Amino acid sequence: MEYKLENLVIPKSIAIILDGNGRWAQKRNLPRAMGHKAGCEALEKTVEDCVRLGVECLTVYAFSTENWKRSSVEVGALMKLLRFYMVKLIDVANKNNVKAVMIGDESRFEPDIRKGIKKLVDATSKNTGMTFAFAINYGGRDEIRRAINNIVDDTVSGAISKDDINEELISSYLDTKNLPDPDLLIRTSGELRVSNFLLWQIAYSEFYITDTLWPDFDKEELLKAVESYSQRQRRFGGR
Ligand code: IPE
Ligand code: IPE
Ligand code: MG
Repeated sequence: MEYKLENLVIPKSIAIILDGNGRWAQKRNLPRAMGHKAGCEALEKTVEDCVRLGVECLTVYAFSTENWKRSSVEVGALMKLLRFYMVKLIDVANKNNVKAVMIGDESRFEPDIRKGIKKLVDATSKNTGMTFAFAINYGGRDEIRRAINNIVDDTVSGAISKDDINEELISSYLDTKNLPDPDLLIRTSGELRVSNFLLWQIAYSEFYITDTLWPDFDKEELLKAVESYSQRQRRFGGR
């Protein structure tokens, strides 16, 4: 399919719930871990495709606070991939002037993974192009819980007063502080739910759901989503 880029409205901020790695593997009689590996490759390409499109911020949901409930074999395979791809992502990010940040609670990860996150963030912090926000051990409710904790601490210490608590202040206590709210939220593999992703931030995001499984998501699919977004009339409650 051909798209004329000049007819597209490019969202400033895209968020993706990458889903369907397991089903992709199942369809091929492969272990789920192979689906996750293929998913990591699709992610690398999507980062580059978003850079080329001129997206300013890409936020990707790769591991939720609920995903620890999966079998130890699957969680182990995901951690192994995380270790490997965080190193690979440094190259991908630096080649594309991408600044990587992490959202989620990293305290639950093993020390070497936490070091890997720091390395990725530090090694790309001076890049001035697209921001890539990697959501791992991320849960929207957990993020809000942690923010409330910090707001209460700062209120008790007197750093802020109760009257300071407005929407802007709450946003500034979330992991996504400094990141634009998603204009477009994409979910792959057909599920019609948000699964605890960016609950505060998606208040006025446009949704795009595709049946395509995440490992099959490519530039064509991304353009379809952006094409759909380009047709939307955003009203933000106004007329
Ligand atoms: C998304 O793929 C990746 C993670 C949630 C870690 P899934 O593993 O959820 O794939 P399905 O939904 O089982 O197909
Ligand atoms: C959402 O996918 C989480 C991530 C993509 C990281 P899940 O596969 O975990 O969501 P549910 O269980 O189908 O809601
Ligand atoms: Mg899933």
